[in-house]
Amino acid sequence: MVPRVLVVAQLPTEWLEPLQAAGLDIHLAPELAGDHAALCAAAAGTDAIVSLLSVPVDAEVLSAGALGRLRVVANIAVGCDNIDVAAARRHHVAVCNTPGVLDSATADVAMLLILAACRGATAAQESLRQGGWHGWELTGYLGKDLSGSRLGLVGFGGIGQAVAARAAAFDMQVAHHARRPTGKPGYVPDLDRLLSDSDVVSIHVPRSPITIGLIGADRINRMPRGSVLVNTARGGILDEDALVDALTSGHLAGAGLDVFDGEPNVSPRLLSAPGLTLLPHIGSATWGTREAMTRMACHGVVDVLAGRMPANLVTAR
Ligand code: GLV
Repeated sequence: MVPRVLVVAQLPTEWLEPLQAAGLDIHLAPELAGDHAALCAAAAGTDAIVSLLSVPVDAEVLSAGALGRLRVVANIAVGCDNIDVAAARRHHVAVCNTPGVLDSATADVAMLLILAACRGATAAQESLRQGGWHGWELTGYLGKDLSGSRLGLVGFGGIGQAVAARAAAFDMQVAHHARRPTGKPGYVPDLDRLLSDSDVVSIHVPRSPITIGLIGADRINRMPRGSVLVNTARGGILDEDALVDALTSGHLAGAGLDVFDGEPNVSPRLLSAPGLTLLPHIGSATWGTREAMTRMACHGVVDVLAGRMPANLVTAR
């Protein structure tokens, strides 16, 4: 029987070329993204699932799939916090993701938010649109220089390193923290020290039980007064209420978020916080990057179904 692949995503079908070339039986089912019961039922009758980060592939989906013939779930994302990876391991379902191909696009958005937060771009644009700009003033709309400022990267995987390269071109002094020593210049073993020594902090760790709530009120308060905080990783790593408090009190000069706790819901407090630029999780949203991510996820499916070890394996069967 030709293996069946359930694609729980709306996408240009040519992006699925690796599945087509392998002669797999492809079923497009974007509507299952919002229907957990239907996804469980469909999982029981498929060999592979191509999923999105907005689709919860939890223990129920995985056990339903494993009772059938599910062998692989490939996420079109580098982060896999929507998938119960431990349950996948228990049920001998391989999980694949898309590391590397989105590093540049996501790092670009981190820089966009760093620039916007440092230069107050969102508030300045709002002022212009509301008719609040009455002419060039020497002290109008003043922000922070990137050049010479200290950037602290929390996490130093592919995206963190791509941000470091971009920031160096802006003459920023770049340091980073990771749980394990990176052996790279600028490594700071103590996260609190990195935060207290940074004018700009950008978050680049995956969401996991270890990183949920990693940057809360205490840690934000360690950052120097007038500093800037950016998150393009995942919601929940940063305490959103603590962020709003720090922006409101003026402790932070600005911030930028591309990710939210409980997406796509965005806390009303964030919507009205001063100095905050908000984007709807567009880190990897370029045509080229999203196509590359989809192709990589598909190659993972093809490899697992052919009994090969995929390069983008998160956990084996
Ligand atoms: C995007 O957020 C991803 O994890 O790929």
